[in-house]
Amino acid sequence: MGTTPQEKRHKPLGGQWKLLDIIAFTMMAALIILFMLIFTSLGDSLAAAGQRDLDAAVRADPTSSGFWGQVETGLLVESCPIRLADIMPCHDPKRARSFTKERNNYRERHCPPLEEKLRCLIPPPPDYQIPVRWPDSLQKIWFNNTPHNKIAELKSDQGWMVQEGDYFVFPGGGTMFPDGAEGYVQQLEKYIPFGTNAIRTALDIGCGVASFGAFLLNKEVLTMSVAPRDSHKAQIQFALERGLPAFVGMLATQRLPLPSLSFDLIHCSRCLVPFAAFNGSYFIEIDRLLRPGGYFVLSGPPVNFPGKEKEYESLQELVAEKMCYKVVVTADKTAIWRKPTSTSCHVSREKQVPPFCTDDDPDNAWNVPLGECITRLPKILATSESMEQPDWRKRLEIIPKRLLEAQNVDSLEFEKDTRRWRRRVRYYKETLKLGFGTPQYRNVMDMNALYGGFAANLMTRGDPVWVMNVVPTSVPNTLSAIYDRGLIGVLHDWCEAFSTYPRTYDLLHVASLQPFTTLDRRCSLAEVMIEMDRILRPEGTVIIRDTPTMLARVSKVAKAIQWKYDIFDSEPGTAGRERVFVATKQFWRAEVVEAQ
Ligand SMILES: C[S@@+](CC[C@H](N)C(=O)[O-])C[C@H]1O[C@@H](n2cnc3c(N)ncnc32)[C@H](O)[C@@H]1O
Repeated sequence: MGTTPQEKRHKPLGGQWKLLDIIAFTMMAALIILFMLIFTSLGDSLAAAGQRDLDAAVRADPTSSGFWGQVETGLLVESCPIRLADIMPCHDPKRARSFTKERNNYRERHCPPLEEKLRCLIPPPPDYQIPVRWPDSLQKIWFNNTPHNKIAELKSDQGWMVQEGDYFVFPGGGTMFPDGAEGYVQQLEKYIPFGTNAIRTALDIGCGVASFGAFLLNKEVLTMSVAPRDSHKAQIQFALERGLPAFVGMLATQRLPLPSLSFDLIHCSRCLVPFAAFNGSYFIEIDRLLRPGGYFVLSGPPVNFPGKEKEYESLQELVAEKMCYKVVVTADKTAIWRKPTSTSCHVSREKQVPPFCTDDDPDNAWNVPLGECITRLPKILATSESMEQPDWRKRLEIIPKRLLEAQNVDSLEFEKDTRRWRRRVRYYKETLKLGFGTPQYRNVMDMNALYGGFAANLMTRGDPVWVMNVVPTSVPNTLSAIYDRGLIGVLHDWCEAFSTYPRTYDLLHVASLQPFTTLDRRCSLAEVMIEMDRILRPEGTVIIRDTPTMLARVSKVAKAIQWKYDIFDSEPGTAGRERVFVATKQFWRAEVVEAQ
């Protein structure tokens, strides 16, 4: 059929409109996509996916990922230069400089990107020796193991520590207790029921060399000590070398990696944290961490401190009025408050400021900014009867209420877990003869702690250890239940370096590497094991329980990082194909030439 002249005229015009339509449509679509990328989370997830692909691509590159891959096939990992002997990759002062000083953000955790991760083994400093064993280490450690005299010089008048020949010794002093923490604790004891079931777990914020926690051990209190990496360096390194529970951290912009409602006591002596500033967010963090009925002790400025009257007034207003704490005492330069056990006072406040949190998960504490709302009590803890804690030895054996409620674990499963750990530890000690119950192990880490069954068993047996129970961020968060058993620990992402100095643990235990290998392709087994090597003391022990296939991979990396190892059958009664890998980190030294 032929076309009319009209049709002929319109055809090219119609074609032009189509082209314009297409151009306009394309531009509109581009604009919409651009808006979506900017204003919705799609952009974030695409960027994250892009970053993952980039990471994976870097991993596939023969000069980078090839490295981790080659370590997994046995490539020997070399020693790092000796200048890295004390490195903490996520607390590197050089990297810190690129972050803002506002609210001390630069002193928080900042981990290196993939391409800057450690690809070598941290050597000990020259003249390093196997640490003094517990309990002697409480009073003295080898000078050459932490040869940082500046802190001793700066704090000599406060009795923190002194160098005596080959040792640093710890007279037990602190800034607020230059004559020793013992007398200071005796003063506190007038108001705080140490030695009763009410006080088992404590947190010492800005701990110095952890002498406060050291003296609380006599009161059967487990104190987690926290301090940042200071200009005089190694407070936490000293604490751990002494055999005291500690990690590197500070109150700045993020929550501490600790669960809510978990500490019976929080202490801060001359830590100079401005608790009432920034809408009270530092004190709100203390409140998140304190168990109902728990005590907060603050000594030093601004308490009765000349020139700090206004600051102290606003602190009292926040703590005693807005947050409903009872003022237990203000004596000299120390103030003690007690957290209420119910919310009756909060609800009757004239102004609901700070407000209660609404859709906040109070136990979510990994890379979470400090909040400005009050943590609610879970129903299961909200009766006064549940505030009373049984003796801590009993708590090791009974199922924590928060585990029952939040994780849906029943008593049967919990008891099974307790029996399992009894069997396992007996096997480690009696059949494998791994030195449990001897001074060989003091600082112990359970890298995948679940309910804290391993630690609970060691405590029940009365082993002279403390255990850092780590709940990986890649598994359900059970850390509050671990604290409810009277144990301590932290959250951690094992694709990153742990907030501790090199050579700080005697024993690392891992029951199943599964959470480590499902880390979203972000890191490899070799990276995790190189980090384990960093934090393990020379001659320290590693125990990994897993399948033969996984342990074959582990063994290859172990060879590459010079661990001596054996693989054993698991103890009788264990179902499945689980085996027990036991390794010792060799005590090697870097070439002397590297030191120059
Ligand atoms: C003067 S020292 C006191 C040490 C110890 N409490 C004593 O009384 O001996 C101050 C401590 O507070 C720490 N610190 C300062 N600001 C901090 C913060 N925002 N969070 C945690 N610790 C902090 C310092 O690193 C140091 O350990």
